[in-house]
Amino acid sequence: MSGSVSQGRLAGKVAIVTGAAKGQGEGVARTFAAEGARVALFDILDDPGKRVAESIAGAGGEALFVHCDVSQVDEVSDAVELAASHFGGLDILYNNAAVIRYGRKLADLPVEEWDRTLGVNLRGPFLCAKFALPHLISRGGGVILNVSSHGAFQASPVGIADYGASKGGVITLTHYLAAEYGPENVRTVCIAPGPIPTDLNRQFLGTPEGRAATSRGIPLGRVGEIDDIAKAAVFLASDEAKWINGAVLQVDGGIVVP
Ligand SMILES: NC(=O)c1ccc[n+]([C@@H]2O[C@H](COP(=O)([O-])OP(=O)(O)OC[C@H]3O[C@@H](n4cnc5c(N)ncnc54)[C@H](O)[C@@H]3O)[C@@H](O)[C@H]2O)c1
Repeated sequence: MSGSVSQGRLAGKVAIVTGAAKGQGEGVARTFAAEGARVALFDILDDPGKRVAESIAGAGGEALFVHCDVSQVDEVSDAVELAASHFGGLDILYNNAAVIRYGRKLADLPVEEWDRTLGVNLRGPFLCAKFALPHLISRGGGVILNVSSHGAFQASPVGIADYGASKGGVITLTHYLAAEYGPENVRTVCIAPGPIPTDLNRQFLGTPEGRAATSRGIPLGRVGEIDDIAKAAVFLASDEAKWINGAVLQVDGGIVVP
Protein backbone atom coordinates (compact mmCIF):
# COMPACT_ATOMS: atom_id res chain seq x y z
CA MET A 1 0.00 0.00 0.00
CA SER A 2 1.51 3.31 -1.03
CA GLY A 3 -0.81 5.73 0.80
CA SER A 4 -1.46 6.48 4.44
CA VAL A 5 -4.42 7.98 6.26
CA SER A 6 -2.87 11.45 6.05
CA GLN A 7 -2.38 11.51 2.27
CA GLY A 8 -4.13 10.30 -0.86
CA ARG A 9 -7.27 11.21 -2.75
CA LEU A 10 -9.50 10.04 0.12
CA ALA A 11 -7.36 11.36 2.97
CA GLY A 12 -9.41 12.12 6.07
CA LYS A 13 -12.46 10.21 4.82
CA VAL A 14 -14.19 7.32 6.58
CA ALA A 15 -15.69 4.66 4.32
CA ILE A 16 -17.87 1.59 4.78
CA VAL A 17 -17.40 -1.12 2.15
CA THR A 18 -19.93 -3.95 2.23
CA GLY A 19 -18.99 -7.40 0.99
CA ALA A 20 -15.36 -6.54 1.66
CA ALA A 21 -14.00 -9.97 2.61
CA LYS A 22 -13.12 -10.90 -0.98
CA GLY A 23 -13.59 -10.02 -4.62
CA GLN A 24 -14.25 -6.48 -5.71
CA GLY A 25 -15.18 -5.32 -2.21
CA GLU A 26 -11.81 -6.41 -0.88
CA GLY A 27 -10.06 -4.64 -3.75
CA VAL A 28 -12.04 -1.45 -3.28
CA ALA A 29 -11.43 -1.49 0.50
CA ARG A 30 -7.69 -1.93 -0.04
CA THR A 31 -7.60 0.85 -2.64
CA PHE A 32 -9.67 3.24 -0.51
CA ALA A 33 -7.24 2.62 2.37
CA ALA A 34 -4.25 3.15 0.08
CA GLU A 35 -5.82 6.50 -0.89
CA GLY A 36 -5.98 7.53 2.75
CA ALA A 37 -9.48 6.49 3.83
CA ARG A 38 -10.16 4.72 7.10
CA VAL A 39 -12.30 1.76 6.15
CA ALA A 40 -14.96 -0.37 7.86
CA LEU A 41 -15.30 -3.74 6.16
CA PHE A 42 -18.74 -5.33 6.42
CA ASP A 43 -19.22 -9.00 5.52
CA ILE A 44 -20.68 -12.29 6.70
CA LEU A 45 -17.32 -14.05 6.17
CA ASP A 46 -15.61 -13.28 9.46
CA ASP A 47 -12.18 -14.85 9.11
CA PRO A 48 -11.47 -13.64 5.55
CA GLY A 49 -12.81 -10.20 6.47
CA LYS A 50 -10.59 -9.97 9.53
CA ARG A 51 -7.60 -11.05 7.46
CA VAL A 52 -8.24 -8.25 4.94
CA ALA A 53 -8.52 -5.70 7.77
CA GLU A 54 -5.28 -6.94 9.34
CA SER A 55 -3.52 -6.84 6.01
CA ILE A 56 -4.64 -3.24 5.42
CA ALA A 57 -3.41 -2.29 8.89
CA GLY A 58 -0.14 -4.11 8.28
CA ALA A 59 0.39 -1.96 5.20
CA GLY A 60 -0.08 1.26 7.17
CA GLY A 61 -3.81 1.80 6.69
CA GLU A 62 -6.69 1.83 9.16
CA ALA A 63 -9.40 -0.80 8.86
CA LEU A 64 -12.05 -2.40 11.05
CA PHE A 65 -13.88 -5.61 10.22
CA VAL A 66 -17.53 -5.69 11.32
CA HIS A 67 -19.70 -8.77 10.93
CA CYS A 68 -22.82 -7.63 9.09
CA ASP A 69 -25.43 -9.39 7.00
CA VAL A 70 -26.65 -6.44 4.95
CA SER A 71 -30.13 -7.93 4.58
CA GLN A 72 -30.76 -7.81 8.35
CA VAL A 73 -32.01 -4.54 9.74
CA ASP A 74 -30.62 -4.86 13.26
CA GLU A 75 -27.22 -6.01 12.04
CA VAL A 76 -26.95 -3.09 9.62
CA SER A 77 -28.08 -0.57 12.20
CA ASP A 78 -25.57 -1.86 14.78
CA ALA A 79 -22.72 -2.17 12.27
CA VAL A 80 -23.14 1.35 10.90
CA GLU A 81 -23.26 2.80 14.44
CA LEU A 82 -20.16 0.82 15.41
CA ALA A 83 -18.22 1.96 12.34
CA ALA A 84 -19.23 5.60 12.77
CA SER A 85 -18.39 5.68 16.47
CA HIS A 86 -15.10 3.82 15.97
CA PHE A 87 -13.88 6.26 13.32
CA GLY A 88 -15.71 9.35 14.61
CA GLY A 89 -18.05 9.77 11.63
CA LEU A 90 -18.77 8.56 8.14
CA ASP A 91 -18.19 10.00 4.65
CA ILE A 92 -18.53 7.19 2.09
CA LEU A 93 -20.78 4.15 1.80
CA TYR A 94 -19.82 1.58 -0.86
CA ASN A 95 -22.80 -0.76 -1.32
CA ASN A 96 -21.12 -3.78 -2.90
CA ALA A 97 -22.33 -6.97 -1.17
CA ALA A 98 -24.42 -9.18 -3.42
CA VAL A 99 -25.33 -12.78 -4.16
CA ILE A 100 -26.13 -14.60 -7.38
CA ARG A 101 -27.26 -18.09 -8.21
CA TYR A 102 -27.36 -19.28 -11.80
CA GLY A 103 -29.58 -21.75 -13.53
CA ARG A 104 -33.19 -21.21 -12.52
CA LYS A 105 -35.54 -19.62 -15.00
CA LEU A 106 -38.28 -17.59 -13.42
CA ALA A 107 -41.03 -20.22 -13.23
CA ASP A 108 -38.61 -22.60 -11.48
CA LEU A 109 -37.23 -20.03 -9.08
CA PRO A 110 -38.33 -20.69 -5.50
CA VAL A 111 -39.96 -17.62 -3.99
CA GLU A 112 -37.55 -17.86 -1.06
CA GLU A 113 -34.62 -17.50 -3.46
CA TRP A 114 -36.12 -14.42 -5.08
CA ASP A 115 -36.58 -12.94 -1.59
CA ARG A 116 -33.02 -13.80 -0.58
CA THR A 117 -31.48 -12.26 -3.70
CA LEU A 118 -33.54 -9.09 -3.40
CA GLY A 119 -32.90 -9.10 0.36
CA VAL A 120 -29.13 -8.92 -0.02
CA ASN A 121 -28.81 -7.07 -3.33
CA LEU A 122 -31.52 -4.39 -2.99
CA ARG A 123 -32.80 -4.33 0.59
CA GLY A 124 -29.12 -4.39 1.67
CA PRO A 125 -28.17 -1.13 -0.08
CA PHE A 126 -31.43 0.44 1.14
CA LEU A 127 -30.72 -0.53 4.77
CA CYS A 128 -27.08 0.58 4.63
CA ALA A 129 -28.09 3.90 3.08
CA LYS A 130 -30.92 4.38 5.58
CA PHE A 131 -28.61 4.06 8.58
CA ALA A 132 -25.60 5.77 7.01
CA LEU A 133 -27.47 8.86 5.80
CA PRO A 134 -27.84 10.60 9.19
CA HIS A 135 -24.06 10.27 9.67
CA LEU A 136 -23.27 11.57 6.18
CA ILE A 137 -25.63 14.51 6.61
CA SER A 138 -24.24 15.39 10.03
CA ARG A 139 -20.78 15.71 8.40
CA GLY A 140 -22.19 18.22 5.91
CA GLY A 141 -22.37 15.69 3.08
CA GLY A 142 -20.95 12.46 1.75
CA VAL A 143 -21.11 9.85 -0.98
CA ILE A 144 -23.15 6.70 -1.48
CA LEU A 145 -21.75 4.42 -4.18
CA ASN A 146 -24.04 1.61 -5.27
CA VAL A 147 -22.93 -1.37 -7.35
CA SER A 148 -25.23 -2.53 -10.13
CA SER A 149 -24.20 -4.79 -13.05
CA HIS A 150 -24.17 -5.04 -16.82
CA GLY A 151 -26.85 -7.64 -16.06
CA ALA A 152 -29.24 -4.78 -15.32
CA PHE A 153 -29.02 -3.74 -19.00
CA GLN A 154 -28.43 -7.08 -20.73
CA ALA A 155 -30.78 -9.96 -20.09
CA SER A 156 -29.41 -13.43 -20.72
CA PRO A 157 -31.08 -16.83 -20.35
CA VAL A 158 -28.75 -18.16 -17.64
CA GLY A 159 -31.36 -18.17 -14.93
CA ILE A 160 -30.58 -14.96 -13.05
CA ALA A 161 -33.77 -12.90 -13.44
CA ASP A 162 -33.83 -12.24 -9.70
CA TYR A 163 -30.25 -10.95 -9.79
CA GLY A 164 -30.92 -8.78 -12.87
CA ALA A 165 -34.05 -7.32 -11.32
CA SER A 166 -32.20 -6.55 -8.11
CA LYS A 167 -29.47 -4.74 -10.04
CA GLY A 168 -32.04 -2.73 -12.00
CA GLY A 169 -33.54 -1.78 -8.67
CA VAL A 170 -30.13 -0.58 -7.47
CA ILE A 171 -30.02 1.88 -10.38
CA THR A 172 -33.45 3.28 -9.57
CA LEU A 173 -32.55 3.44 -5.88
CA THR A 174 -29.51 5.48 -6.93
CA HIS A 175 -31.71 7.95 -8.79
CA TYR A 176 -34.07 8.44 -5.88
CA LEU A 177 -31.29 8.80 -3.32
CA ALA A 178 -29.64 11.37 -5.59
CA ALA A 179 -32.87 13.36 -5.84
CA GLU A 180 -33.77 13.14 -2.16
CA TYR A 181 -30.35 13.75 -0.62
CA GLY A 182 -28.52 15.89 -3.17
CA PRO A 183 -29.93 18.93 -1.34
CA GLU A 184 -28.16 17.62 1.80
CA ASN A 185 -24.90 17.44 -0.18
CA VAL A 186 -24.97 13.65 -0.26
CA ARG A 187 -24.08 12.44 -3.76
CA THR A 188 -25.32 9.01 -4.83
CA VAL A 189 -23.73 7.33 -7.82
CA CYS A 190 -23.68 3.85 -9.24
CA ILE A 191 -21.01 1.68 -10.82
CA ALA A 192 -22.23 -1.00 -13.22
CA PRO A 193 -19.34 -3.45 -13.65
CA GLY A 194 -18.92 -5.75 -16.59
CA PRO A 195 -17.64 -9.33 -16.26
CA ILE A 196 -14.75 -9.65 -13.80
CA PRO A 197 -13.39 -13.03 -12.65
CA THR A 198 -14.34 -13.47 -8.99
CA ASP A 199 -16.08 -16.20 -7.00
CA LEU A 200 -19.40 -14.69 -8.15
CA ASN A 201 -19.03 -15.96 -11.70
CA ARG A 202 -16.44 -18.72 -11.32
CA GLN A 203 -18.54 -21.09 -13.43
CA PHE A 204 -18.26 -18.79 -16.48
CA LEU A 205 -14.96 -16.96 -15.97
CA GLY A 206 -13.07 -19.53 -13.91
CA THR A 207 -11.27 -21.02 -16.91
CA PRO A 208 -9.13 -19.47 -19.67
CA GLU A 209 -11.68 -20.72 -22.23
CA GLY A 210 -14.54 -19.09 -20.35
CA ARG A 211 -12.70 -15.80 -20.05
CA ALA A 212 -11.76 -15.90 -23.75
CA ALA A 213 -15.35 -16.58 -24.79
CA THR A 214 -16.66 -13.69 -22.70
CA SER A 215 -13.86 -11.40 -23.86
CA ARG A 216 -14.97 -11.84 -27.48
CA GLY A 217 -18.20 -10.02 -26.61
CA ILE A 218 -16.41 -7.05 -25.05
CA PRO A 219 -15.30 -4.25 -27.40
CA LEU A 220 -12.07 -3.71 -25.43
CA GLY A 221 -11.32 -7.40 -25.87
CA ARG A 222 -10.84 -8.51 -22.29
CA VAL A 223 -12.70 -9.21 -19.09
CA GLY A 224 -12.24 -6.69 -16.30
CA GLU A 225 -9.88 -6.59 -13.36
CA ILE A 226 -10.82 -5.65 -9.84
CA ASP A 227 -8.51 -2.67 -10.13
CA ASP A 228 -10.64 -1.32 -13.02
CA ILE A 229 -13.52 -1.01 -10.56
CA ALA A 230 -11.42 0.24 -7.65
CA LYS A 231 -9.97 3.10 -9.73
CA ALA A 232 -13.43 4.22 -10.82
CA ALA A 233 -14.69 3.92 -7.23
CA VAL A 234 -11.92 6.16 -5.90
CA PHE A 235 -12.70 8.81 -8.51
CA LEU A 236 -16.44 8.75 -7.82
CA ALA A 237 -15.93 8.79 -4.05
CA SER A 238 -13.44 11.64 -4.19
CA ASP A 239 -14.03 15.36 -4.40
CA GLU A 240 -12.89 15.19 -8.05
CA ALA A 241 -16.43 13.94 -8.76
CA LYS A 242 -18.13 16.60 -6.65
CA TRP A 243 -20.75 17.50 -9.30
CA ILE A 244 -21.60 13.90 -10.20
CA ASN A 245 -24.87 12.82 -8.62
CA GLY A 246 -27.36 10.20 -9.79
CA ALA A 247 -25.08 8.91 -12.56
CA VAL A 248 -24.52 5.29 -13.53
CA LEU A 249 -20.96 4.65 -14.69
CA GLN A 250 -20.57 1.52 -16.77
CA VAL A 251 -17.11 0.10 -16.09
CA ASP A 252 -17.35 -2.79 -18.49
CA GLY A 253 -15.03 -2.48 -21.49
CA GLY A 254 -18.06 -1.48 -23.55
CA ILE A 255 -19.97 -4.76 -23.20
CA VAL A 256 -23.12 -2.67 -22.84
CA VAL A 257 -23.32 -0.26 -25.71
CA PRO A 258 -26.53 1.16 -27.13
N1 LIG B 1 -17.81 -10.17 -10.81
C1 LIG B 1 -18.54 -9.70 -11.78
O1 LIG B 1 -18.38 -10.08 -12.96
C2 LIG B 1 -19.61 -8.67 -11.54
C3 LIG B 1 -20.25 -8.08 -12.65
C4 LIG B 1 -21.21 -7.12 -12.43
C5 LIG B 1 -21.51 -6.72 -11.14
N2 LIG B 1 -20.88 -7.32 -10.07
C6 LIG B 1 -21.21 -6.84 -8.74
O2 LIG B 1 -20.02 -6.48 -8.06
C7 LIG B 1 -20.20 -6.65 -6.66
C8 LIG B 1 -19.06 -7.48 -6.10
O3 LIG B 1 -19.12 -8.78 -6.66
P1 LIG B 1 -17.87 -9.77 -6.65
O4 LIG B 1 -17.68 -10.20 -8.05
O5 LIG B 1 -16.74 -9.17 -5.92
O6 LIG B 1 -18.50 -11.01 -5.83
P2 LIG B 1 -17.91 -11.95 -4.69
O7 LIG B 1 -18.88 -13.08 -4.59
O8 LIG B 1 -16.47 -12.23 -4.93
O9 LIG B 1 -18.01 -11.04 -3.37
C9 LIG B 1 -19.24 -10.72 -2.78
C10 LIG B 1 -19.01 -10.40 -1.32
O10 LIG B 1 -20.27 -10.09 -0.71
C11 LIG B 1 -20.36 -10.78 0.51
N3 LIG B 1 -21.76 -11.00 0.89
C12 LIG B 1 -22.65 -11.85 0.34
N4 LIG B 1 -23.81 -11.80 0.99
C13 LIG B 1 -23.66 -10.88 1.97
C14 LIG B 1 -24.52 -10.39 2.97
N5 LIG B 1 -25.77 -10.84 3.11
N6 LIG B 1 -24.05 -9.43 3.81
C15 LIG B 1 -22.77 -9.00 3.70
N7 LIG B 1 -21.92 -9.43 2.77
C16 LIG B 1 -22.35 -10.38 1.92
C17 LIG B 1 -19.63 -12.09 0.24
O11 LIG B 1 -19.30 -12.77 1.44
C18 LIG B 1 -18.43 -11.60 -0.55
O12 LIG B 1 -17.39 -11.19 0.30
C19 LIG B 1 -21.57 -7.27 -6.48
O13 LIG B 1 -22.52 -6.25 -6.21
C20 LIG B 1 -21.87 -7.87 -7.84
O14 LIG B 1 -23.23 -8.02 -8.09
C21 LIG B 1 -19.95 -8.30 -10.25
